[in-house]
Amino acid sequence: MDLSTAGADIDRVIVTAPEIQARLKEIAAAIEGDYVDRDLLVIGILKGAVMTMADLVRALNRHVEMDWMAVSSYGSGTKSSGVVRILKDLDRDITGRHVLIVEDILDTGLTLAWLKSNLQSRGAKSVEIFTMLRKPDAAKVEVDVKYVGFDIPNEFVVGYGLDYGEKYRNLDFIGILAKGVYS
Ligand code: PRP
Repeated sequence: MDLSTAGADIDRVIVTAPEIQARLKEIAAAIEGDYVDRDLLVIGILKGAVMTMADLVRALNRHVEMDWMAVSSYGSGTKSSGVVRILKDLDRDITGRHVLIVEDILDTGLTLAWLKSNLQSRGAKSVEIFTMLRKPDAAKVEVDVKYVGFDIPNEFVVGYGLDYGEKYRNLDFIGILAKGVYS
């Protein structure tokens, strides 16, 4: 869906569809350079990372394997607790693998901090992170992220995988949700 259809629900666009695709090409080139002669397993975190994952792997001019996890904060309203539960686990063992986690957003950082240490504890040879978006002002823990699409302000963003009540994931851009939608 594009901006003309999303209309008044979006306060302003912060990353356009062409900007997303251009940045993905740059990141794909960096990944190709960093992983020369190494097998690469990319792990997308459902559901938000679906768009990022789909476009990233198509921009990569090399073989990769893909797997998926779905995680959720433990219970409701406890997002900042850092306790994460696995809703869908990986299909395969990752012992000895070079793993790249693909996420849509790093907000407090708690989900990615937990995921990274969880995958390291399974015996992966390396675990790195690519997040399309990062909110530096919202960070509660420091997470070592190898690839970042865009640093953005600490506002409620939707689109390109990011939802509000499961809507707006299919916007082809990233925008700030109009306050009237949720207040
Ligand atoms: C979002 C996002 C990250 C997490 C980031 O997922 O995809 O996994 O929140 O937040 P944090 O840095 O504060 O931990 P969400 O729980 O909304 O699930 P979804 O991807 O299915 O929308």
